[in-house]
Amino acid sequence: MYAQMIKTASNSVKSRDEMSPEEAAFQDKIDNDIKIEPRDWMPEDYRRTLIRQIGQHAHSEVVGQLPEGNWITRAPTLERKMILLAKVQDEAGHGLYLYSAAETLGVSRDEMVEMLHEGRMKYSSIFNYPTLNWADIGAVGWLVDGAAIVNQVALQRTSYGPYSRAMIRICKEESFHARQGYHAIMKMAFGTPEQKKMAQDAVNRLWFPAIMMFGPNDSESTHSEQSMAWKIKVKSNDELRQQFVDQTVPQIEYLGLDLPDPGIKWNEERGHYDFSDPDWSEFFNVIKGNGPCNVDRMNARVKAWEDGQWVRDGLMEHARKRATRKVAAE
Ligand code: 3HC
Repeated sequence: MYAQMIKTASNSVKSRDEMSPEEAAFQDKIDNDIKIEPRDWMPEDYRRTLIRQIGQHAHSEVVGQLPEGNWITRAPTLERKMILLAKVQDEAGHGLYLYSAAETLGVSRDEMVEMLHEGRMKYSSIFNYPTLNWADIGAVGWLVDGAAIVNQVALQRTSYGPYSRAMIRICKEESFHARQGYHAIMKMAFGTPEQKKMAQDAVNRLWFPAIMMFGPNDSESTHSEQSMAWKIKVKSNDELRQQFVDQTVPQIEYLGLDLPDPGIKWNEERGHYDFSDPDWSEFFNVIKGNGPCNVDRMNARVKAWEDGQWVRDGLMEHARKRATRKVAAE
């Protein structure tokens, strides 16, 4: 039902005098930081953009397992295997929280998965890049989960109650994800010259895709203005990107690695690092489906969904039988 509606969500912010009484009362709640709960009245566009954003967030968690899952059997030590296994399992749980949060808005998990498989719902661009070696696994944990944390810590204050509460739980685990990644790449940056070279190569390849995770510049963002007015987003794409750059550059320097962008320079006046824009044509090309791994990722997800159909059928049959027995017993 929501498949078509999501795309029609309008993006222009209404002025107060254009709002209906319900919209004005809704906006008062938003402005007073009163959380919106599933049974509350909400503008249809608020519902649609939340389904879009939370559904894509959930897909990102699940698809995000694939690049790292490839390295569980190739981890360099048993300890590293256990850490990576725990992280990948966490991501499945994050997907569960987020699909459940999206379901409170009236969309089913099957609908969201169908939209993903048919390319009508996205997942984060970063997961369309390959993980070529173990240094990439460290860089993914450190940079990708690091970027996700910056975004998700802000989302803990999002106006939709179930989304905000899911974020609080997820952020607790994300800190471990970023920490373990930084620790893995630190071992290599301070390791042999060959390991340091691998660490540098991983940072060079993943830096710009990581800063693309925050979405296009605010001036190019389709949804930001309305999402900020409804406090779905509490910080803009560019604010979050800047925060991530400011916290990550000192870490790169601590590792003794070269900065992956010659445009990175501390700007005393701004009190932030200046940095180069990513190649936005690459970004839009990747999210259009033409990234290095888009086809592999989607094939893997469709196969996993189809292979798991018998489990879902069995669970539904079990639930049906239990419900029938319960009715018969009453
Ligand atoms: N990847 C894919 N699509 C992206 C994107 C990205 N990194 N950034 C933006 N887009 C898409 C948007 O979905 C939108 O397209 P749509 O209208 O078809 O949905 C279009 O580009 C324009 O972008 P906007 O800025 O207007 O879109 P948003 O207002 O939705 O902002 C966002 C984008 C900042 C990613 C926001 O959706 C958001 O904060 N989402 C929640 C966080 C999230 O999804 N994070 C993904 C990573 S989760 C993760 O890494 C898990 C970790 O544990 C590994």
